Amino acid sequence: MCGIVGYIGTQSASSILLEGLRQLEYRGYDSAGIATVWEDKIDLVRAKGKLYNLQTKLEGHDLQGTVGIGHTRWATHGKPEEHNAHPHVDMSRRVAVVQNGIVENYRELRDGLKQRGYEFVTETDTEVIPNLVAERLDEMRAGGEWVTLVSPLTEAVRRVVNDLHGAFAIAVLCADYPDEIVVARQQAPLIIGFGQGEFFCASDTPAVLPYTNAIVPLENGELATLTPLGVEIYSFAGDRLKRHPHILTTTTSVSEKQGFRHFMLKEIYEQPSVVRACLDAYLHPDWTPDSPHSPIRLPLPSTFYDQLEQVQIVACGTSWHAALVGKYLLEQLAGIPTQVHYASEFRYAPPPLTAHTLLIGVTQSGETADTLSAISMEKERRTGLSEAFAPRLLGITNRMQSTLTRLVDQAIDTHAGIEIGVAATKTFMAQLMAFYCLTLDLAYQRQTLPSDRLAEIVATLRQLPMQLEATMPQQERVVEQLAHDFAETQDFIFLGRGINFPIALEGALKLKEISYIHAEGYPAGEMKHGPIALLDAKVPVVAIAMPGHVYEKVLSNAQEAKARDALLIGVTPSADPHATELFDTILPVALVDELLSPILSVIPLQLLAYHIAARRGLDVDQPRNLAKSVTVE
Ligand code: F6R
Repeated sequence: MCGIVGYIGTQSASSILLEGLRQLEYRGYDSAGIATVWEDKIDLVRAKGKLYNLQTKLEGHDLQGTVGIGHTRWATHGKPEEHNAHPHVDMSRRVAVVQNGIVENYRELRDGLKQRGYEFVTETDTEVIPNLVAERLDEMRAGGEWVTLVSPLTEAVRRVVNDLHGAFAIAVLCADYPDEIVVARQQAPLIIGFGQGEFFCASDTPAVLPYTNAIVPLENGELATLTPLGVEIYSFAGDRLKRHPHILTTTTSVSEKQGFRHFMLKEIYEQPSVVRACLDAYLHPDWTPDSPHSPIRLPLPSTFYDQLEQVQIVACGTSWHAALVGKYLLEQLAGIPTQVHYASEFRYAPPPLTAHTLLIGVTQSGETADTLSAISMEKERRTGLSEAFAPRLLGITNRMQSTLTRLVDQAIDTHAGIEIGVAATKTFMAQLMAFYCLTLDLAYQRQTLPSDRLAEIVATLRQLPMQLEATMPQQERVVEQLAHDFAETQDFIFLGRGINFPIALEGALKLKEISYIHAEGYPAGEMKHGPIALLDAKVPVVAIAMPGHVYEKVLSNAQEAKARDALLIGVTPSADPHATELFDTILPVALVDELLSPILSVIPLQLLAYHIAARRGLDVDQPRNLAKSVTVE
């Protein structure tokens, strides 16, 4: 949510910053801007909307300088207009600031500055920061306070960040200190990149990877001064800190579309490979029921499993849906009572403390503020308690360098590769795989599954990539026709039961996010308790009917919808004559063990959302109002 980037070195800053912003555009695309210091002045170019608007503006503006900061915005305070675009400058235009986050006490700070004669030209919370930095610098100058251990700009920023409430990461430039960028982090991601005589800062690694793979992630409550000679890191209290850069081995830079019209479609098609990658990572290749160990190899210590009585999961959005599938698996296969919480609710209404509890945070980005806050809160309230109540924290993430992995005790890498489309698809699939692996491991350790059943599930998992590959082209043909028929439809209902209820939620979320069509996901059996009143011939119903112990029930619920004239689309293997007769259209999926069916049933729903949005001519990869990494609460 908002991307920030900074460069100091010997090359032209603006082109490096623009490329960095391109790598961070997934974090927000309401506006973008770049500021440099040139001839002891701040030079600034900003544009509303996507990055290409800024690029066009830069073509007509010679933005010089070898030090600069850039920003791509997801609007929180103030409409997405050019005057609200970052970087923001102070009244005298000596200080420029980019921020990712929210300054929660900005009203109070702004009122104070106004009373002291400062003027504001934006509706943003950020504008207080450059003005406060300018004010602190003036105060220090007036008081003759020039002999400090740190540079005056660093000291001014340090004093300011101590007055800010909220979660933020900032980068600050000052025309009076043209050889410095000062950055600070409080609960929003910020990394520093170490090049040869040049240094970078960014919200995420892809922005710096073309130039260096040596990075230091700043921790909460830390600030740093970047100069052409090096980087100094301090605590908000002013203590100097030592950090050694670590070398990233992954290449996380943005890839190409490889012939697909959109990243989302490419990522949907990558899912068989994602399933394969997870199986390669976590399944023992030659495991048999006679093997003296679990079929799963996870990086989890036995202390996670010892006397485990309960699992609590915190997550948001699509990750929350993956967690609901996880709950089903953990309860039904491993016999562990499991609660799934919206991370944004958990923090402010946590359940009573329970003993021997594993807390799992699920977040593909590893940076979702709600999820991180929920985990931090739980860690804090359990720290210092007796052994039974001590925190056991597990993360499931696609970004092993993220803040999440530094917060939890252990993390499962979901191996999906970088996902560019803002709507999550392959990372959801990878989260499901993580839950299958975790559950099978726990079921083995706790001996809750007979070994032949365990072997059956493992064998079925191994078949999945091929089954997915075989059905996707056929599904896409059917979906293209449906997209043609339903491009102007206003409401959709998605029904599922049991392990496929979360998939109904996910199908509805995908459609809402990228096609802007209203959609509801519902447990099929609940329809008759109210929502059935919504149905008529104009509302298509998508029913996930996977053979298994609730199959007949779902068909009956679909029948009830049909009796209300609803048009029925069935996500189902097409062999059953009862289903072929009932559904107006069948989105075919392979016949598979019901327990594994979410892996198959979600794909046609992703394709349906994709094709409807593409047919409506919408920006599938960057849907309005959304961002890939939600770093504000
Ligand atoms: C849906 C989507 C969002 C995210 C949610 C959590 O397509 O992308 O609902 O799932 O913002 O994000 P992470 O998984 O990064 O915590």
